[in-house]
Amino acid sequence: MADDDSEGRDPLFRYDDPIFEKQELLEISHVPGPDRIVGRETEMGQVAEALNPAIFGNQPSNLFIFGKTGTGKSLVSRSVTERVVVEAEREEISVRHVFIDCGEQSTEVSVVKTIAQQLNDEHVTGLSVPDRGLGTGDYYKRLWQVIDTFADVLVVILDEIDMLDDDEVLRKLSRAGENRSLSSAKVSVIGISNKIDYPENLSERVKSSLAQTELVFQPYDAEQLKRILEKRRDAFRKGVLGDSVIPLTAALAAGEHGDARKAIDILHNAGLIAKKQSDEMVREDHVRAGKEQAEADRFSELVGGAPTQVKAVLYALVLLTEQNDEAKFSTSRIYDVYSQVRVELNLDELSERRVQELLKEQNFLNVIRSDRTSRGRGGGVYATHRLLEDPDIVKRVLLRDDRLATEL
Ligand SMILES: Nc1ncnc2c1ncn2[C@@H]1O[C@H](COP(=O)(O)OP(=O)(O)OP(=O)(O)O)[C@@H](O)[C@H]1O
Ligand SMILES: [Mg+2]
Repeated sequence: MADDDSEGRDPLFRYDDPIFEKQELLEISHVPGPDRIVGRETEMGQVAEALNPAIFGNQPSNLFIFGKTGTGKSLVSRSVTERVVVEAEREEISVRHVFIDCGEQSTEVSVVKTIAQQLNDEHVTGLSVPDRGLGTGDYYKRLWQVIDTFADVLVVILDEIDMLDDDEVLRKLSRAGENRSLSSAKVSVIGISNKIDYPENLSERVKSSLAQTELVFQPYDAEQLKRILEKRRDAFRKGVLGDSVIPLTAALAAGEHGDARKAIDILHNAGLIAKKQSDEMVREDHVRAGKEQAEADRFSELVGGAPTQVKAVLYALVLLTEQNDEAKFSTSRIYDVYSQVRVELNLDELSERRVQELLKEQNFLNVIRSDRTSRGRGGGVYATHRLLEDPDIVKRVLLRDDRLATEL
């Protein structure tokens, strides 16, 4: 019964995956090698130029990278930084880098602590960086000591930098780069955000020292997405992908804006769905179902992870959509309903202007769609906003937030 290589194995389990050969290539945490990165030569060159001085132990430029979701910002920053580290090693310069997700570490002290913990080796420094118990000043002191021990140059990548509570940590890190009495190492920061207006929120002081180079990453076109996916074809077993699968995935992912994460997620989902249905090949219907799934996941991640004030604004839009026949609402109507919602939630009051900005961000993130609507002859134009998803779905995601669920 058993053939040669299944000898001794429990037949209850499966040993070879019918669809995937190297599924990890499609996982979001996977950082692909340089030969799998497509269509970002210029951007990689620009990041390399900013970091180039690090190879010789000199101060790199600070960088800000902006662009819509899935345009390769995190990937390019990580990939180029890792290559700098290797090149510098040849020159016997120790370049170290840390990658901080500010969505998870949003306070000054947690960022400082995380950098120190990632760099530190207690056996070498004799210094511990405890999870709690130190004041912010003491964490900084340990950080400078740890940096001095391990790095000639430190590159701090602050991903989703707009999630930081304030810019104090940016100010201190950029000062360390200039002030040799804090640390003898050169420290530079790469800030990444998908909020294009983020620099407007920084204080002038920080802006002048940090925003040395700003890069904007444009969305991919369908052709580029196709090449990105082709380079991951080996995630699948040979012959499993139908001919039209990659072109269709690329076309679907290029729909709103060319988002490589979405493209890879759709392809991954399509494979998982085919496997679940015990199909031998991945076909177009799997891709379409994979797209639905990717959109639902992305939406709940975007909305679920948003700050409470943003959720309150979206909730106001849900209530309006439920209670009215029309689907588009002016900023001031949304603001009126928001004002009631935020009282129930015990939130600080935001100005109408601020709510307008939050709506603009949600439009940029494709959670809502904002348009300019005319008042009619001589009446000028005003902004209206509508949900892109079914209000029931939006509401369900919003009510997963404990605060909204208990107060509303
Ligand atoms: N040029 C590219 N070549 C190959 N793969 C890419 C490319 N750009 C992005 N990817 C892949 O697409 C996914 C999303 O990329 P990445 O995380 O860098 O996007 P991002 O711009 O940081 O998006 P977000 O703003 O949502 O964080 C990753 O899996 C990444 O490996
Ligand atoms: Mg990113």
